[in-house]
Amino acid sequence: MKKKVVGLLGSPLFEGNTARLLSRALDGARDAGCETELVAVTCLEFQSCQEMFFCREHETCTLDDDMQQMYPKLAAADGLIVATPVMTMGIPGTLKSFMDRCQVFFMAKYYRKQPLVPPEKRDTRNGLFICIAGMDIPEVFVGPKLTAKAFFDIVDCRYGDELLINGMDRIGDVKKQPALTDAAYKKGYALGVSLGATAGTGASKGSGPAEMPEK
Ligand SMILES: Cc1cc2nc3c(=O)[nH]c(=O)nc-3n(C[C@H](O)[C@H](O)[C@H](O)COP(=O)(O)O)c2cc1C
Repeated sequence: MKKKVVGLLGSPLFEGNTARLLSRALDGARDAGCETELVAVTCLEFQSCQEMFFCREHETCTLDDDMQQMYPKLAAADGLIVATPVMTMGIPGTLKSFMDRCQVFFMAKYYRKQPLVPPEKRDTRNGLFICIAGMDIPEVFVGPKLTAKAFFDIVDCRYGDELLINGMDRIGDVKKQPALTDAAYKKGYALGVSLGATAGTGASKGSGPAEMPEK
């Protein structure tokens, strides 16, 4: 069976720079033999965590919204890619709320000691963090990286690699920077290989963002 890589898009722009880089990383994973799925987090309907602590005793959240479909999807994935722009020196609020709602994984793993991720996947799950920032200052990725590392830990996925690109305000359109899109492709390909994926399917064309949902 093919390995599955799920890509979480934190940007609200489906044709923006983050979306483009995620799309190329997923192309790479696919060319390495993986099945891929892109989840546009801003298209999901869900509330932020209300601290009702239902997940202390249960394998899910009491809030009945789109996160209910996301928990099994996240638990079943072999690889995860989180792609996000920096906003206000952190990650965008919707993506942060998505991660906060993954408290069900935290409670299962650390409180009940019954992780939601199947044991055969826990040791092999691998992740890639893609983050872009408008500014050129060195601290710009500190907050986003701490959050991403906490998220990957909570969902039992190794923070295996990262692609951090700053100065986007100066760079402009990432499509005009093949070195950056190639870097995303290569990191996605390497992620696929790290999961033990085998079947190469031929290089994906560098066209527009694939798998984007209708707005
Ligand atoms: C609301 C908002 C807040 C932002 N805050 C920051 C910031 O604090 N630091 C930074 O370097 N860039 C910041 N940016 C710039 C974005 O990270 C940058 O424009 C990025 O390329 C957007 O990616 P996207 O077009 O794929 O969504 C911000 C952009 C927006 C829209």
